[in-house]
Amino acid sequence: MEKLLDQIRNFDQSRLPRHIAIIMDGNGRWAQQQGKPRVFGHQQGVNAVRNAIEGSGEAGVKYLTLFAFSTENWNRPAEEVNALTGLLVKAIHAELENLQKNQVRLKVIGNLKALPNECYHELLKAIDQTKENTGLTVILALSYSSRWEITEMAKNIGEKVKKNTLNPQEIDDQTVIDNLTTFDIPDPDILIRTGGEFRISNFLLYQIAYSELFFSSIMWPDFSKKTLWQIILDYFSRQRRFGKTSEQVSCSE
Ligand code: FPP
Repeated sequence: MEKLLDQIRNFDQSRLPRHIAIIMDGNGRWAQQQGKPRVFGHQQGVNAVRNAIEGSGEAGVKYLTLFAFSTENWNRPAEEVNALTGLLVKAIHAELENLQKNQVRLKVIGNLKALPNECYHELLKAIDQTKENTGLTVILALSYSSRWEITEMAKNIGEKVKKNTLNPQEIDDQTVIDNLTTFDIPDPDILIRTGGEFRISNFLLYQIAYSELFFSSIMWPDFSKKTLWQIILDYFSRQRRFGKTSEQVSCSE
């Protein structure tokens, strides 16, 4: 397995993905396949989160965004919602020392006000305690959906226009980027979805315009460093053209 990491480290480092985003799907089905309750899958999913964080850090990735809880997930049975938010608090508590040791900086995007109080405060504390870390930035998308974020962006821009601090004719791509929750994070180079489904499910719709997409049949609790590193190596073999022709891209390489 170290061979995969060596291959990544020996590759042209200017082509390393800076930002990987993951839709962590398949916890429930993984548990049900073993005759266990869905919550068991989420508990095991925490180990896979650790694999993704450590694997990204070891490969030299700078940003990792994890879709941990969507706006739509609030519609799940209360028992599962409570288990998920409780698990998050427990995981942050248990992993904080490890995050510090690995210089991981924690961030959150989403409608945080919707989170239970304890969860909200635990998160704020961990964000504050890790804010000076200089290694991997882990962004948890919590109570997040892209349509919610885009609506908030429109509201923010509208307020600035109303206060005469922004001229509508001057609104451009950068104005939009500056008013999204990801304003200080580069767009994902790679988007991974586990769990065998081929959907984006309201995740970072604006930001993934040119991301390379990887759909894996692996259920999230089985996600390992090896899975991640294989995807990074696969990404190296893809040519990103950003709308240009392949001849134009080869000339500028
Ligand atoms: C999708 O599986 C997974 C989630 C909705 C939650 C992900 C949460 C964790 C891995 C645990 C805590 C997170 C952190 C960051 C410590 P699903 O339930 O939709 O699976 P299914 O498609 O098989 O039903």
